[in-house]
Order: sequence, then C-alpha cells, then structure tokens
Amino acid sequence: MSSSLHHSACALAMLLSLAPPALAAGDAQEGQAIAQKWCAACHVVMETQTSATPAAPSFAAIGEKYRGKGLAALAAFLADPHPVMPDMSLTRQEIRDLTAYIDALRG
Ligand code: HEC
Repeated sequence: MSSSLHHSACALAMLLSLAPPALAAGDAQEGQAIAQKWCAACHVVMETQTSATPAAPSFAAIGEKYRGKGLAALAAFLADPHPVMPDMSLTRQEIRDLTAYIDALRG
C-alpha cells in the first residue's frame, strides 16, 4: 500500500516535469521514424514514398479518416492492431508519437 502510494507520487513527479503538450501530443518526428521503420512496408507513410500494399490506406488518408473520430480513436486502434496487420506491440509512447505524426499529415 505505502509502496504503491510512493510509486504514484513518483509517476506524478515525472509527469509534472515534462511539458504537458508534448506528453499529450507525442513527438511527430519520432512518429515518422517509427512509421518509416514499421509501417512503410504496407502504408504510404510519406508522400514521397512510391510503393506500398494497395489494401493499406496511406497515412494521409488515415489522418483524414480520423479527423472526425478523434485521435483517441486512432490511438485505440494502434493499441489493438487490426488482424491483417502484424501485432507490433507498440509502446504507449510509440503510439503517441505515431498519432502525432499522422495528425500532422492532415489537410
Ligand atoms: C503487413 C502490412 C501492414 C503493416 C506493416 C502495417 N499496416 Fe496498417 N494496415 C494494413 C492494411 C492492409 C490495412 C487496411 C485494413 C483494412 O482496412 O481492413 C491497414 C490499416 C491501418 C489503419 C487504418 C485503420 C482504419 O480505421 O481504417 C491504421 C491506422 C494503420 N493501419 C496503422 C498502421 C501503423 C501505425 C503501422 C506501423 C506501426 C502499420 N499500420 C503497419 C497493413 C499494414
């Protein structure tokens, strides 16, 4: 009990030491690096990319689709991969970074 209280106090201290917008939004540049590494085999991650799996929507299209649904829905999708996608076990930070990157691609 006291040790879990101690842990939450530490976690809170760590949260407060980070800039809240960066924490909430993720790092789009990191997201781009992750996307190029893990997603570009199937998705058009950047406009300059020429080949991808036709069945996989481009990240620009995904950003467009989630414009209305909200980024939380995109993050939820990424936390629980679609069956046709390999289970990539993305960390929560990677998910935040990817959503930030995809969000930045919108219109
Ligand atoms: C092995 C190929 C493959 C890889 C690798 C892959 N995807 Fe996909 N992804 C697909 C396909 C195919 C679809 C379309 C599935 C469908 O609509 O039924 C898809 C759909 C999606 C969607 C759209 C979901 C929706 O609501 O329409 C998102 C978001 C997505 N992928 C994100 C990612 C991210 C982020 C990565 C890298 C971490 C990634 N994918 C890696 C094949 C892949």
